[in-house]
Amino acid sequence: MNILIVGAGGREHSIAWKCSQSPKASSVHVTPGNGGIESIANCWYTTDYEEIVKRALEEKIDLVIMGQEDYPVNGLTEMFLDKGIKVFGASKTAAQLEGSKVFAKEFMKRQNIPSAQFSSFDDLKKAKGYLKQLAPPYVIKASGLAAGKGVLICPDLETAEKGLEEIMQDKVFGSAGDYVVIEEFMEGEEASWFVFTDGTNYVSLPSLQDHKRQKELDRGLNTGGMGCYAPAPVVTKDVEERITREIVEPTLKGMAEEGNLYKGILYVGLMISEGIPRVVEYNIRFGDPECQPLMMLLDSDLVEIAEAVADEKLDQLNVKWKDKAAAAVILASGGYPQSYEKGFTIQGLEELEQNEDLMVFHAGTQKDQNRYLTNGGRVLAVTAVGDDLQGALNRSYEAVEKIHWPGMQFRRDIGIKGLKRMVTRKIEEPQVAIILGSASDMKIADKATKILDEFGVTYDLIVSSAHRTPARTKDFVNSAPDRGTEVIIAIAGMAAHLPGVVAAYTH
Ligand code: AMP
Ligand code: GLY
Repeated sequence: MNILIVGAGGREHSIAWKCSQSPKASSVHVTPGNGGIESIANCWYTTDYEEIVKRALEEKIDLVIMGQEDYPVNGLTEMFLDKGIKVFGASKTAAQLEGSKVFAKEFMKRQNIPSAQFSSFDDLKKAKGYLKQLAPPYVIKASGLAAGKGVLICPDLETAEKGLEEIMQDKVFGSAGDYVVIEEFMEGEEASWFVFTDGTNYVSLPSLQDHKRQKELDRGLNTGGMGCYAPAPVVTKDVEERITREIVEPTLKGMAEEGNLYKGILYVGLMISEGIPRVVEYNIRFGDPECQPLMMLLDSDLVEIAEAVADEKLDQLNVKWKDKAAAAVILASGGYPQSYEKGFTIQGLEELEQNEDLMVFHAGTQKDQNRYLTNGGRVLAVTAVGDDLQGALNRSYEAVEKIHWPGMQFRRDIGIKGLKRMVTRKIEEPQVAIILGSASDMKIADKATKILDEFGVTYDLIVSSAHRTPARTKDFVNSAPDRGTEVIIAIAGMAAHLPGVVAAYTH
């Protein structure tokens, strides 16, 4: 089969990588694609729908896999189906689950699917009036597609009113802001949940946790995602069962009953609080970077799955997953998610041996003879598989240390919430605090936590670096006695800076 993948990021690179291993794939094409993807697929570098379909006919494409959301939302699925080309992806009407937050929220209400309380508005004055009845923080969402930027979480009324004006009056997100959704703020821990579905049958994928904020400890601006890991321990067996019964099944059934058969991959963004999952949002595509670890954990043929979805025969497949963990660390341009410079040479890539346990997927790169140049906000997704989460993180971070360009930024605490859930209980008054310079130091901390557990000593654990986040390290150490902490263990691989700084702040 000739396969076309539509999109341009690390997600599409990983889909193309997986497809290129399929015995069923005779050729793999990506549009628009990027410099890194060129090494394994033909990139067409066009986003023009007519041109894409024309070229698909010329190249005798048999199956299209939709990567990025705007294509199905704007009707590209039907353009292929009209020409008899199979599509793994949502129809235009089903794509409203992501393309219109008003649609998604009203659908969930009709189908009794747990989510935040909400109201929707197309009138600024009415929206402002509604805000006044609520308590902070305020969650305001532009209804349409806004490249992941259309959600504002505002700490006070003034900021919320200003946000509404920007969306509804100044149209900072264009027509995406014609309608807004104002909703209840949900507390909890987020997770991403995916199912392959042909509309009737579905197959669940491993759970993941993304890291949306730019900086460690979930600080800084919202991004497309700075890293993720799978599986996510916050999704326990119990939670998984609730997601399936209370969210996935009613969603697929509801869509079918309303005449919107949902096919492709369904992404449910979740907020989990005390074991109860609620929907934050639906997406009609794989997540980026969630797709990258998923492709590495998938032990079946993606082309076969995509075809079975398109043919509505998913029940005939037995989809298998590796019994391992995987993690992706995003390397981004300095300045991302705001303005950033492009065109830096990426160093160190050639030293890495890439294989089925370690892949560097390209999100925003351009090929220039024998080198790669940065060409986007998110540039690379360093993705690794390990026997457990710690193993996967170690492999990713070891590779990250070898890659460099001026201004490169990444989060050092990818996976830490997962590790913490595995090693610690929630502690109100920890007798001991463990500070790690980076998540990759967890392996060493494991030895300490085992002994502390053995003796029943309570402890807390954070990632904070002496030189990258000096203020946080200082605050944490200074406030430790107030939390009842008597001992601090500082661990930073091969260096004494962190223990030195911690010692300097204690007295
Ligand atoms: P979305 O684009 O809808 O995924 O929203 C972006 C991010 O905003 C989510 O990943 C959450 O971190 C946060 N968010 C969105 N809606 C809510 C909500 N109702 N309560 C708390 N956080 C939210
Ligand atoms: N990683 C979040 C998303 O793809 O929407």
